Amino acid sequence: MTAQLNARGDVAVLVPAAGSGVRLGPGAPKALRLLAGEPLLVHAIRRVAAAPSVRMIVVAAPAAEVEAVRELLAPIAAVTVVAGGKERQDSVAAALAVVPAEVGIVLVHDAARALTPPALVESVAAAVRSGHPAVIPALPVVDTIKEVAPAAAAETVLGTVDRSVLRSVQTPQGFRHEVLAAAHRAIVDAHTDDAGMVERSGTPVVCVPGSESALKITRPLDLVIAEALLAVA
Ligand code: CTP
Ligand code: MG
Repeated sequence: MTAQLNARGDVAVLVPAAGSGVRLGPGAPKALRLLAGEPLLVHAIRRVAAAPSVRMIVVAAPAAEVEAVRELLAPIAAVTVVAGGKERQDSVAAALAVVPAEVGIVLVHDAARALTPPALVESVAAAVRSGHPAVIPALPVVDTIKEVAPAAAAETVLGTVDRSVLRSVQTPQGFRHEVLAAAHRAIVDAHTDDAGMVERSGTPVVCVPGSESALKITRPLDLVIAEALLAVA
């Protein structure tokens, strides 16, 4: 069934989905790989569309797959599909370019975090709405983290980092529309997340609790974990 988006919602969700999935191994672009018989992108969009504040969804698809992705998602939700770019931030910029100025809140959400619950989309959006210009979902770091001196053979440990002040960061990351747009206009170097660009501009970024289900499907083992999560859901 096609999900109805909220025409009175104040949130646009950008979904970069144009990556190739090198770390997952050879095959289709990652967003189109199957999880329990359906493409990762379908899982992701269904959950985003179920978040009540969402008014608009923009997917950045691999350039060669724009038409195919439009057809794939048409039965799921009303989604705008644009061609992504070379790097993730190029794909985000292409999606951001089609969001009308009157949409106040923009979330950026990896297609690869296919099982992110709608409640996390809502909690990030709510934190932006409450006055934070930039909000990211984050989890405590579970492993002990060492700083090392890089070396081809044995790396030498320089020290143990205090993990109590470290966070693993997820998506969706939420922003006042104008804050994200300004960061994209200003930044020319590479960033692995959108909040990184906004931090550079001096805007405060705050964390809300992330979700174990929002894991990024990156390596083959992540697909196994995601299948298991779906089976217990
Ligand atoms: N992405 C994108 N455009 C790119 C690169 C990445 O839209 N040029 C998207 C991916 O499709 C994914 C998200 O950004 O939804 C996070 O990227 P990542 O998990 O690194 O996915 P890939 O780049 O596809 O994987 P890999 O780095 O292993 O190739
Ligand atoms: Mg990548």
